[in-house]
Amino acid sequence: MSDQLSKLPRARAVLSLIGDTPLVPLRFEPEGITLQAKCEFLNPSGSIKDRLASTVLLDAEQRGLLRPDSVIVECTSGNTGIALAMVGSAMGYRVTILMSSSASGERRRLIRRLGAELILFNSAGRYQTGIEMSREMAARDPRCFLPRQFENPLNVEDHEHGTGQEILRQVNGPVDAFVSGFGTGGTLAGCGKAIKRAWPQARIIAMEPAEHALLAGECPCCHYIEGVADGFIPPLLRGAPLDGEVKVTSADAMAMARRLHRDFGLLVGTSSGANVVAALETARQLGPRANVVTLLCDRAERYFSTALFEPADDPYSANPFPSVVEFISQ
Ligand SMILES: Cc1ncc(COP(=O)(O)O)c(C=O)c1O
Repeated sequence: MSDQLSKLPRARAVLSLIGDTPLVPLRFEPEGITLQAKCEFLNPSGSIKDRLASTVLLDAEQRGLLRPDSVIVECTSGNTGIALAMVGSAMGYRVTILMSSSASGERRRLIRRLGAELILFNSAGRYQTGIEMSREMAARDPRCFLPRQFENPLNVEDHEHGTGQEILRQVNGPVDAFVSGFGTGGTLAGCGKAIKRAWPQARIIAMEPAEHALLAGECPCCHYIEGVADGFIPPLLRGAPLDGEVKVTSADAMAMARRLHRDFGLLVGTSSGANVVAALETARQLGPRANVVTLLCDRAERYFSTALFEPADDPYSANPFPSVVEFISQ
């Protein structure tokens, strides 16, 4: 950690762009199913994690836990790091992000561009390594503030009173199901609670990578749906009113993300594809008139270097047009 001085005060206008994301109907043919998709990728840093970052840091500031020389330290698979770096930059605080070396290069570059420090740890140790490192840093340096996304109750409360209430206002009538993957579990637990309270018959469904279906009690192994299923059942998920889970393979998640790019013009990441596959499966079970809500969590641009943009064996990966058309001037 370098001993750079705090940058307070800063312009905070970007914080007003967080949340109140649109909910759009997506019509799937030939499935004959319409899903309601909440466009979290439209948050200013490009993911649902902007909500957590601004809520936790504004709360900490209000409670006097942040000082001009504070350093915000968090272990994250990427989106939370980008969000904290953005909010920290706008609020004028230093940010240090601990991230697995397997996270995509785009995430690293965005975090660095937003002015944060980045510490990479060996992905073989999984998340626990980074979480322990952040705790050791805080024990050594009293300037460190840990948002603790995996255990902070504000993570759930923010989605319960924010995202969940937005969904209830935006859906015209009862919600029959809410489908989402989980990283910290904050989104699923918070939105799940809000929706269940308003519509007790609603089914709250967890999307899980098929290769790593922990809730289904299946042996962990690697998957390619970045941002979800980090190797353990997160503590915040314990209070979630879950009714079931749907398993999605990484290949199906990527094929659906590519379909969202090509057929819907929605440039979203792999986990958004996975959520849509699980939401379609849920809608199939509940019938064509069911109101099924899911989330488009982040933007495609942060996956350029991943398998999502590699040629693949699905109809959405190929583009029939030549990639370069020469313009011949006379
Ligand atoms: C990319 C991405 N970020 C964040 C989330 C939500 O994570 P959390 O459980 O931490 O709220 C998801 C969930 O699907 C996700 O796919």
